Amino acid sequence: MNKYTLGMIGLGTMGRNLLLNMADNGFSVTGYDKSADMLKKLEEDGKAHQLKGFADLSDFVQSLELPRRIVLLVPAGKIVDSVIEELLPLLDKGDLIIDSGNSHFTDTTRRSLELADQGIHFFGMGISGGEEGARFGPSMMPGGDKKAYEAVKPILEAVSAKVNGDPCVTYIGPGASGHFVKMVHNGIEYSMMQILAETYDLLKNSLGYNNEQIYSVFEKWNEGRLKSFLLEVTRDVFKVKDEKTGGYLIDVIKDEAKSKGTGKWTSQVSMDLQLPIPTINESVSARDLSKFKTLRVELSEALPHVKEAIDNKEEFEVQLEQAVYFAMITSYAQGLHLLSQASKEYKYELNLQEISQIWRGGCIIRAVLLEDIYQAYKKQTDLPHLYADAGIQKQLQEIIPGTRNVVITAIKHGVAMPCFASALTYYDSLRTANSPLNLTQAQRDFFGAHTFERTDSEGIFHADWN
Ligand code: 6PG
Repeated sequence: MNKYTLGMIGLGTMGRNLLLNMADNGFSVTGYDKSADMLKKLEEDGKAHQLKGFADLSDFVQSLELPRRIVLLVPAGKIVDSVIEELLPLLDKGDLIIDSGNSHFTDTTRRSLELADQGIHFFGMGISGGEEGARFGPSMMPGGDKKAYEAVKPILEAVSAKVNGDPCVTYIGPGASGHFVKMVHNGIEYSMMQILAETYDLLKNSLGYNNEQIYSVFEKWNEGRLKSFLLEVTRDVFKVKDEKTGGYLIDVIKDEAKSKGTGKWTSQVSMDLQLPIPTINESVSARDLSKFKTLRVELSEALPHVKEAIDNKEEFEVQLEQAVYFAMITSYAQGLHLLSQASKEYKYELNLQEISQIWRGGCIIRAVLLEDIYQAYKKQTDLPHLYADAGIQKQLQEIIPGTRNVVITAIKHGVAMPCFASALTYYDSLRTANSPLNLTQAQRDFFGAHTFERTDSEGIFHADWN
């Protein structure tokens, strides 16, 4: 019997679609799932390739060529551990397991060390692009043992999205680096989504635009430098009607946002690494704050705010586009800055040029702007921060005055814009040569004798403040 090149465990939509994508690209692949329904669905969808799956794990493992390549697309968490536990006795040394869910990177570190002890290669691979991406070309972030990557490189490159012929997949680095990079991708995703939500708020509540007008603004912007997958999706939301009411669907969706945790993990890690990503943090908090609906309704009545009208709507719209562009640059800048710090701390050997390159297509945060970011890191691989690139600086100079006006207006209008405001404050903090934190040091030394350093001489000092 001919053996299969790769096997997928978990034939839900993501797993099935990725498998179909591999089959389309000429690879001999198969799948395993406990559910008979999932196996039936694989057979139906994969008719053209006569794709058949296994209901027996041992038969599935035996059907794979050596060294085995097994991709897991099962929910992150305990299920990954139990699947690995079931698999282990059936595997041979040198086999490769790739966990493609949104697993926490510390779980991936633990699993890869445990499996390395048993001679099994373990990869954490973030996949972005949703169901559509998995079927027709996702962006993928695999991390693990470099030599083991060679065994799956041709398959991953073939099935990934392509930008200018370049595959949207690359070897990310050792250990859990693949899952770490995907987590930060999601942090940036949260931030970009929140920026667009704040933009919607301003268009609706400051400019008084209806859904058709909002659609038109997003449509126009998406033809320029803001062109991105998320803006495209956001634009299209504003034309969808609700079958039940006949009105727009967006108007009947509850304003309480859910999340699965990857944004929160990004913020938590940033605190551990002492590498600030305030705009991403704000996007996580915005979702959490949205859940206090009853309190928000009560306070909106108790603490009303009278809005001033905007005189020049056209000018404000132009400035708003600049503010969105600025906040998007800042979201990527913070995410990439976090990656550079994590790379040092965890020895991930991350290449930010390649990471921005593979984010240009297939993934949720793909955007025209990533081309500029990719070029910035291509010019200088050890760029200390995205704001340090001359090309980005030129763009910042152009968009900052408009951004300031948008933030001022929103504050005057009492419209909350945590991401816009924090992005601008972050920018101002980073371009402040002499910060007021000398005072913080003085305070610490005053009440706690925590010492301070001086600007005019080396050493550690303590003063008698009284
Ligand atoms: C992707 C997405 C994907 C998923 C998020 C949603 O890159 O394809 O990030 O992973 O949409 O997990 O996350 P929340 O449910 O937390 O918004």
